[in-house]
Amino acid sequence: MTIDSEPMKEDLTPEELEDYSLSGEAGGESQAGSDDPFFVSKKAAAVYKHKLLKTYFPKFAGKAGSTEADKRLVYVDTHAGRGSYDDGTAGSPLLVAQDVAGMQRLRRIDCFFVEARKSNFEHLDDVLTRNMPEGARWHTRQGRASDHLQEALTFAGDSPLFMFIDPYGLGPTFDEVVMVLNRPRNGYGSKTEVLLNFIAMAFSRAGGYLRRAEKSAQQLTTLERLDKVLGGPWWRAVYLASESTAPAIQEIALGYAQRIQAKTNCSVSLIPVRDRAHNHPIYWLVHFTRHPDGVWWIREAAAYASEAWRRHCSPPPQGNDDGLFAVEDPFPAEEAARQAGWIDAIERHARRLLQEQGTIELPRDAQAVFGPETFGQAWAKHLRGALARLHKEGILEPKPLADGLDKYKGRRVQHS
Ligand SMILES: C[S@@+](CC[C@H](N)C(=O)[O-])C[C@H]1O[C@@H](n2cnc3c(N)ncnc32)[C@H](O)[C@@H]1O
Repeated sequence: MTIDSEPMKEDLTPEELEDYSLSGEAGGESQAGSDDPFFVSKKAAAVYKHKLLKTYFPKFAGKAGSTEADKRLVYVDTHAGRGSYDDGTAGSPLLVAQDVAGMQRLRRIDCFFVEARKSNFEHLDDVLTRNMPEGARWHTRQGRASDHLQEALTFAGDSPLFMFIDPYGLGPTFDEVVMVLNRPRNGYGSKTEVLLNFIAMAFSRAGGYLRRAEKSAQQLTTLERLDKVLGGPWWRAVYLASESTAPAIQEIALGYAQRIQAKTNCSVSLIPVRDRAHNHPIYWLVHFTRHPDGVWWIREAAAYASEAWRRHCSPPPQGNDDGLFAVEDPFPAEEAARQAGWIDAIERHARRLLQEQGTIELPRDAQAVFGPETFGQAWAKHLRGALARLHKEGILEPKPLADGLDKYKGRRVQHS
């Protein structure tokens, strides 16, 4: 795996180097066993975000592109990385190249990739050249994301835009994210979405500089950068007021999302990705959209990604080589029990909601019916299972179907 372990750093600016050290990149895999509560190897951590992107992006492409006369939409990856890992596992650019190929007859997905580091850039370019289908329109740029943002927006033009912002460290400034989300567009609806990776370790390390009596010039610069990334110094008081780091970072992630929301009028979904050892979020995927379908499908995608992540965190036990003493994998049974519990919980929430308001309308009531235990964990299959029980009992009409569940409108049946 080379994104983590590659030793070449010469092609990085001091700012990028600082990003690497903030994210633990300098130590890479060798930090396994570190007591830093946020450390999980980068390749492992990527399982969740890649599953989410793989599930969500085709939904966005299908929906946002459907009403465009030219069926065109644009994907921008501001921190594209190498395209794939050296063992062939896809990074975000290869995942999207596969979507470009798979949807080519239905949608024109034009792509723009930016990567700062020369060696990564060369690998990226090679991966895309080999995997983008004939006729696809895509550009790669080597450099800093900020320096290519305007060009990326011009490239998007009036087409729907999905931007993936996936730095190792602090990422773009607050004003840059707001500018992207508020880009003017001629056409129906805003059709601009951002998925941003908010890395807990980067923010916790940088925030840690606040507590130091003596700060180096580099640390002062990083603190000022944090102000720019988070939209002002408001986060400093949050950090200093908190006794431990994880809740402070959580509050800062939430405050950041709310501040972007206030400037853009977007709906925001804040998706924590937790490590198994401490149950702390190691990063948040923050999704901004102005469309209710976006909120619905990002939650579905997060639920699928959670399942992939649980499986990844609980790999099957290794049997011995001769296969005589096969060790049973407990995961499938545990997962089945977990998912059965979700259906029970959703049924309880739906029953109460039906009693209180007489209707269940989706996507409006999604948060209430899933409830805090299952929101972002359970997906449509579980929701439908729970609603089907109420229908079978004769208190909910009509029957919930798999097709169109996201627009389901149910009402209470009164029995005399
Ligand atoms: C987390 S990795 C990207 C992974 C990729 N999005 C994926 O999912 O496979 C972050 C990448 O951003 C690059 N990078 C760091 N600073 C950057 C900047 N200012 N502009 C663009 N890329 C940058 C790094 O070299 C690294 O390859």
